[in-house]
Amino acid sequence: MAPRGYTVGVIAGDGIGPEVVAEARKAAEAAGARFGFGLDWVDYDLGADRWLATGDALPDAVLEELRGVDAILLGAVGRPDVPPGVLERGLLLRLRFELDLYVNLRPVKLYPGVSSPLADVKSDDIDLVVVRENTEGVYAGAGGTVHRGGPAEAATETSIETRAGVERVLRYAAAKAKERAGRLTLVHKTNVLVHAGGLWQRTATAVAAETGVALDYAHADAACLYLVNDPGRFDVIVTDNLFGDILTDLGAAVAGGLGTAASANLNPQSSPSLFEPVHGSAPDIAGTGRANPVAAVLSASLLLDHLGEREAAAAVEAGAVAALPGAAGYSTQALGDRIATAVAGGGSPHRSGGDDAV
Ligand code: IPM
Ligand code: MN
Repeated sequence: MAPRGYTVGVIAGDGIGPEVVAEARKAAEAAGARFGFGLDWVDYDLGADRWLATGDALPDAVLEELRGVDAILLGAVGRPDVPPGVLERGLLLRLRFELDLYVNLRPVKLYPGVSSPLADVKSDDIDLVVVRENTEGVYAGAGGTVHRGGPAEAATETSIETRAGVERVLRYAAAKAKERAGRLTLVHKTNVLVHAGGLWQRTATAVAAETGVALDYAHADAACLYLVNDPGRFDVIVTDNLFGDILTDLGAAVAGGLGTAASANLNPQSSPSLFEPVHGSAPDIAGTGRANPVAAVLSASLLLDHLGEREAAAAVEAGAVAALPGAAGYSTQALGDRIATAVAGGGSPHRSGGDDAV
């Protein structure tokens, strides 16, 4: 039988992106060696440098090439010398839209050894996933500006929600809830956004009835309160693009910060999907060796899981989680090495305070 192999497109990107992606690759390589599959990494030098040099954030030819890989691993995009929105819209959002990655799956999990800013919260108390709609809403880009710069200037940013777009992400979320505790919470703002809210609510009710998941509902503002007061009430949250963006930063904060927040941009029906840490490019710490690679490593775990390499994904997650207690004492690379060693050997790394501590 031919050995299993996958081609992974890598967009390491800007700031700390390349540093954390290097460690995620190591962990995935170690898993491949242990579980018997190969990974063929193809680097794409997209990001701030490419845009500054060529004015192109994502050339069409590169996009076409990326359609052919099995999965994409992305570090981070954005740098202070590039105007806001250029790389976000031109690269990251373009990939999400063009590849139709309509699910943004963001686990919110407090791992042992990580402390939450919430008082009296233990690791088991926060374990939920947010399913964020990833191709519609205000992100769709409908809108414009008239009379720019003058006193009559007006700007619109229109939120686009379609029945098909809402239904497909709700179906994914319902299936995810069935794999877990079976509880699905729709988060929206139906008391104000009555048009889009009505569409989400009616569609969610129908999907829940059809799939047999228990559906409840929280307004987006109340959901923020509950995430802090009572995060254990959530199992799977499904929500629109913008609410999901905001809620998952709050989720990352209550689960101990962006250092462990991973995400998957999925199209469950077609290849390739894209995996990235929730954090940004953090230009202030780029090159210092202080970036936490765990969010990128956990994103690689989601990638392996999506490719069907379940055992490898679990081993990478376990390796990252085992390295978390005391992680702040290690450099990006030292932590990545410890994780890769744990993944390769099946054991967990022991904190030695040895010469790899910084
Ligand atoms: C995220 C980021 C992006 C978003 C930005 C960089 C466009 O904040 O992935 O959460 O708003 O979706
Ligand atoms: Mn965000």
